[in-house]
Amino acid sequence: MKPVVFAQAGNEVFAKSIATYLHADLGEVIFGRFPDGETYLRIQSDVKNKKTIIVCTLRQPDEKILPLYFLAKTLKSLGADSICLVAPYLAYMRQDKVFNPGEGVTSEYFASLVSDFADNLITVDPHLHRRHSLSEIYSIPCKVIHASPLISAYIKDHISNPVIIGPDAESVQWVSEIAKDANAAFIVLEKTRLGDKEVKITIPDIGKFRNHTPVIVDDIISTANTMIQTVKILKNKGMKPAVCFGIHAIFAGTAFEELKDSGAGEIITCNTISHISNKIDICELLAKSI
Ligand code: R5P
Repeated sequence: MKPVVFAQAGNEVFAKSIATYLHADLGEVIFGRFPDGETYLRIQSDVKNKKTIIVCTLRQPDEKILPLYFLAKTLKSLGADSICLVAPYLAYMRQDKVFNPGEGVTSEYFASLVSDFADNLITVDPHLHRRHSLSEIYSIPCKVIHASPLISAYIKDHISNPVIIGPDAESVQWVSEIAKDANAAFIVLEKTRLGDKEVKITIPDIGKFRNHTPVIVDDIISTANTMIQTVKILKNKGMKPAVCFGIHAIFAGTAFEELKDSGAGEIITCNTISHISNKIDICELLAKSI
């Protein structure tokens, strides 16, 4: 029996692509709102005894989680054999400890919520900082896809004489891989976070890379301040405009425009979140893992 792929509203293009790669059926679901704002949904495909896949990227997760929960529960009530959640961007990974008294570890609470209605989870480069693996917080099987081979292939094909720049210590995990595959050198900078919207970046001596093209790679671009500060510091050191790679294009508010205005070169992201900067398609890689 063919699996059935459902798109949470806003994920139709991605879901269609996954269904094509998998030779799966595309599920039909109508989403709507009751007059009081509550979610309405109606599944119009036969899912009895079938494996189902829900595609839902989790930028702005608060407004997505309840419709997602209802979709999963409804699929199960119609006899679906299993539910695989494909969340190309996985939210709530950053509050992974109590930073101040009175806070909760929301990454754990979110993980237990998702583990309650999905049978397994597939995602792309989740923000694992103090956690080493999703299995530390998710109780369902999880698979993680890495965008780094696609990013290094893009760099090899399009950027001459690159030096890969990681903006902070955490970035060493993907920057080192990308640099190795792209046959390039890499440098990791030091970042101090001063607040949600403020970071301070310090840079080692990069004199020997002055004639290279700086290529900054980060997992998430949210306020873009990490990128902006890094772009500026490289510019002050006399380097060419930096090419900015982000895996997940969150771009909160006017972050994209601010990054463009900061003197950045090309801005390139993966399509884990749909955005004008998407140039790297991870659908095939992701589909292969399902
Ligand atoms: C942080 O630890 C991440 O790897 C990114 O550097 C961070 O999320 C970027 O955030 P922003 O764009 O708000 O500086």
